[in-house]
Amino acid sequence: MTLQNKKIVLGITGGIAAYKCPEIVRRLKDHGADVRVVMTNGSKEFITPLTLQAVSGNPVSDSLLDPAAEASMGHIELAKWADLIIIAPATANTIAAINAGMANDLLTTICLATAAPIAIAPAMNQQMYHAPVTQQNIASLEQRGLHIWGPGSGEQACGDVGKGRMIEALDIVDRTVDFFSPKAPKFKLLITAGPTREAIDPVRYISNHSSGKMGYAIAKAAQAMGAQVTLVSGPVSLATPSNVNRIDVVSAKQMHQQTLAQAPTHDIFIACAAVADYRPSDVANQKIKKNDDDMTVTMVKNPDILADVAALTKARPFCVGFAAETQDVETYARGKLQRKKLDLIAANNVSVAGQGFNSDDNALTLYWNNGKLDLPLASKEMLAKQLVVEILKHYNKHA
Ligand code: C5P
Repeated sequence: MTLQNKKIVLGITGGIAAYKCPEIVRRLKDHGADVRVVMTNGSKEFITPLTLQAVSGNPVSDSLLDPAAEASMGHIELAKWADLIIIAPATANTIAAINAGMANDLLTTICLATAAPIAIAPAMNQQMYHAPVTQQNIASLEQRGLHIWGPGSGEQACGDVGKGRMIEALDIVDRTVDFFSPKAPKFKLLITAGPTREAIDPVRYISNHSSGKMGYAIAKAAQAMGAQVTLVSGPVSLATPSNVNRIDVVSAKQMHQQTLAQAPTHDIFIACAAVADYRPSDVANQKIKKNDDDMTVTMVKNPDILADVAALTKARPFCVGFAAETQDVETYARGKLQRKKLDLIAANNVSVAGQGFNSDDNALTLYWNNGKLDLPLASKEMLAKQLVVEILKHYNKHA
């Protein structure tokens, strides 16, 4: 029962291979999975919802605007419920719609609304498969982290011979089992996130507005891409992403100590935390009283965690920094890249409303020795995925 407790949405679109779907559902269930089927209108020309309801043992969902279906399990619920969404067969039309971010039927809406991984088993005429636009759509989905299963080659229902057949039902089931089986991590990522707090006295501290959202989104995206992730986190009110090892710290000194201890056992280090540059030189033992009109706090410089990791001579990970700037972004970012001896730096302009600190969206520009790349405004979740893909490209070249 290798798929015990696994919740799978099987999306069926309008291709002749839809007749193989009851077999997929039955075999997934044999492995212990709970399967819910979502059908497009086109798919119902090839196979009936009743058949799939019977084999899955669950009601079949096929309408975006059906009040009764929404009352029992709405489309957002289904998007949240799934551990994996498999679209098989996936027509060229559905692939294009998902790539374009359309939400014009239940299946595409679920794909847009889900954080679950999505696997696509293309099935179409070989000419349609080879059409440049289809190839572009598939490549773009793959780049965004969707899994592309197939297609296979051979004789097609229309009489053509070539690539475009849906891979066999049992192959889809094998890939699903493989998808959920534990694997050795592809890479080990260490990341700092959130603010630090620098104590003045037992009840007061100096800190900043960092929410930790960007760092947490990167940790989550990297984990989903097969990384073993250690997250050294300042105080934030965010849930730990699943299967991420979180080490909580408060001050810059603690973050420095924990990060330096972890760094040599990791392949990549991303410094996403907004570390306080200075800390009060003395922390008062008792709460400071407001006796005077003025108060002076003498500050001393905190250690630079990123620069210290990048300066490691043994087992130095690939080092990525962040630069939050309000002006001359490129000049300051490139300055940090060189001064801290980094491999890559991600810069953002925090003076622009709606991006950066405490926001759900962000835009970044990556700089490295002799290049740059813009990652335009997007949700931090989406941006995090693109960032990890780009970091991995550079890491693999460097390794
Ligand atoms: O020099 P600046 O603070 O602007 O550099 C920002 C980058 O350096 C970020 O990646 C941040 O996480 C990291 N940093 C650090 N330790 C510090 C200060 C910044 O790791 N003490």
